[in-house]
Amino acid sequence: MSDALGRYAALDRYTLGVVEEREQYYTRLLAKSALSMGDCRFLEIGAGHGFNVHYFLEKGVKEENCTLIEPDSDRFESLKKTFPKAVIEEARFGDSRVEGGFDVILISLVLSSILDHEIQEQVLSRALTMLEPQGHLIIYEFRYDNPKNKNVKGVSPNLIKRVLKGGHKFQQWSVSLAPPIGRRVGKAYKPINYLFPFLRTHFIMDVSNDNS
Ligand SMILES: C[S@@+](CC[C@H](N)C(=O)[O-])C[C@H]1O[C@@H](n2cnc3c(N)ncnc32)[C@H](O)[C@@H]1O
Repeated sequence: MSDALGRYAALDRYTLGVVEEREQYYTRLLAKSALSMGDCRFLEIGAGHGFNVHYFLEKGVKEENCTLIEPDSDRFESLKKTFPKAVIEEARFGDSRVEGGFDVILISLVLSSILDHEIQEQVLSRALTMLEPQGHLIIYEFRYDNPKNKNVKGVSPNLIKRVLKGGHKFQQWSVSLAPPIGRRVGKAYKPINYLFPFLRTHFIMDVSNDNS
């Protein structure tokens, strides 16, 4: 069962601003796509505790049409409890046995935790092969290294474009106020984000086939 209402209540103001903005973009891109959410086969690579999964369930994706890959065993167990009807695999994507045929594949804040460019490239290339012709690969990432956290690395949208070259359409949006600023502005997240777009540190990329 999904716990859709609870997930917003637990968020601080900054995270709520980030999530609302991000999900508005997802909603727009799904609405513009030719996909029907009732039949949509959804894959999240590195699903964490499943926060994003709730959003897709709210949009009409059926839990049994969700496949979630997560290498961390605590998160894997938590996913199994929260989404008992979903297909859930405890694995790194590179070792996963999941096969293709997905309409939406989400890679959110995962590439930045893969420090090796070659593995990042393998993840992206393989994800693309698992996409249906009308499908969308949605990537959410931050651009800049975090000096306080050496376990993550900023991701360049150009790296993604280079890897996924040829035959694909890209759309990209700058989103998410830089955390040190966003956390200070409280209720003013939306106006500050709107007025000062150069303070955004993350991006959403939507990759689809040229013929979609
Ligand atoms: C920062 S969390 C993001 C969780 C979720 N996608 C989100 O946006 O809230 C990154 C997740 O990616 C997972 N991860 C790291 N390397 C991975 C890989 N090679 N394949 C699949 N998942 C991976 C981690 O275990 C972690 O749960």
